[in-house]
This record gives sequence, C-alpha cells and structure tokens, in this order.
Amino acid sequence: MAETLNVLGLCGSLRRGSFNRAALDFAAENAPEGMEIQTWPRLGEIPPYNEDIREKGFPPVVEELRNRIKEADGLLIATPEYNYSVPGLLKNAIDWASRPPEQPFKGKPIALMSASMSGFGGARAHYHLRQVFVFLDGLVMNVPEVMIASAQDRFEEGKLIHDETRSFIAGDFLPAFADWIRARQG
Ligand SMILES: Cc1cc2nc3c(=O)[nH]c(=O)nc-3n(C[C@H](O)[C@H](O)[C@H](O)COP(=O)(O)O)c2cc1C
Repeated sequence: MAETLNVLGLCGSLRRGSFNRAALDFAAENAPEGMEIQTWPRLGEIPPYNEDIREKGFPPVVEELRNRIKEADGLLIATPEYNYSVPGLLKNAIDWASRPPEQPFKGKPIALMSASMSGFGGARAHYHLRQVFVFLDGLVMNVPEVMIASAQDRFEEGKLIHDETRSFIAGDFLPAFADWIRARQG
C-alpha cells in the first residue's frame, strides 16, 4: 500500500459563508483512501507583499505557508473568481510564498476548484492561476476540473448539497488528483 498523500488545501475566500471553503471542506471530508487533505486557515493573516520586508526575512506566517507547501505532496486550491481573475488574497499569498530561495511551487502537483454564483463557476480564475503556475513551474492537473456554477443553489448552510457535484468531486476529481500526484512522484 502506497503511503498516504498529504494534500494542503487553500481557500481564496475569507467570507464566513464561503461556497469555496464549503467545497474545500467537502473535499477534505471525502478524500479518497490514501489521501489526507488538511486546510490551512491563515491566508488572511498574510500581510500585503512588500519587498522591503521580504529582504529582512519572511514573516513567520509566510514561512509557515512555505513550509506547509514544501512538505505537501500536492496543493488543492478552492477559490472564487474576482473581477474575472484571482482574488488578491490568494495572489498575494502566492507572491509571498514564491520568493527565493527554494520557491515551493516548483514541481508541485496542484488541483484547482472554484465556485461562483455565475454560470461560469469561476472558470476565469482557473486560467489566470494556471498562467501564474506556468512561471512557477507548478504542475496543475488539466482535467478533470471543478467549476461549480450557480453556487447559491448547490450549497446550503455551509454544506455542498448538490449530489452530482458531490459525487464528481469525491468519485472523479479527487481520485484523479491522487493519480496525478503519484504519477509525478514516479
Ligand atoms: C470583488 C468581487 C468580484 C467578483 N467578481 C466576480 C467575477 O468576476 N465572476 C464571478 O463569477 N463572480 C464574481 N464575484 C462574485 C463571487 O463569485 C461570489 O461572491 C462568490 O460567492 C465568492 O466566493 P465565496 O462564496 O467562496 O466567498 C465577485 C465578488 C467580489 C466580492
């Protein structure tokens, strides 16, 4: 039996009733056998990126994020789309974590999820994130993708209630991500 895959979950929304956090929590609660997903709740504590601060050393919260990414076998990001792109919160965290030395996204298997009230399900945030991870040499799984449209109808009281989406995440997406990670590990 292969070792348990340790996946770090990050959410691009701080909203108490966040659909994306609910989707990430659902994934964590329904990870396939052989995968453990731990969410990291400190994204909102990361200060705005400032090169002057970075030159003096990473803030402890950034150091922790960098270490968590380095130690993880894979990264699972669930994020809304803000103004057709990646929320500043998430981009800021990626910018901090990506600075040298040893930027932790290089060669890291990554899977993306999004949820939005629109019909596109946050798709445009995926494509901007994918572009960012090209430069950082992160290995974003191409398919399957999770883009949850009409989120207001698919979540209730902080839970993903839409059966088809639940079954797709638990039965298709996460097992495919486990395969993606194992294939990258060789
Ligand atoms: C600043 C801002 C910009 C937004 N831009 C978009 C957008 O471009 N496309 C979209 O589908 N939804 C957009 N939304 C709506 C979000 O998708 C919606 O609020 C979603 O529920 C946020 O995710 P969350 O529930 O995880 O917080 C925007 C919301 C905010 C606050």
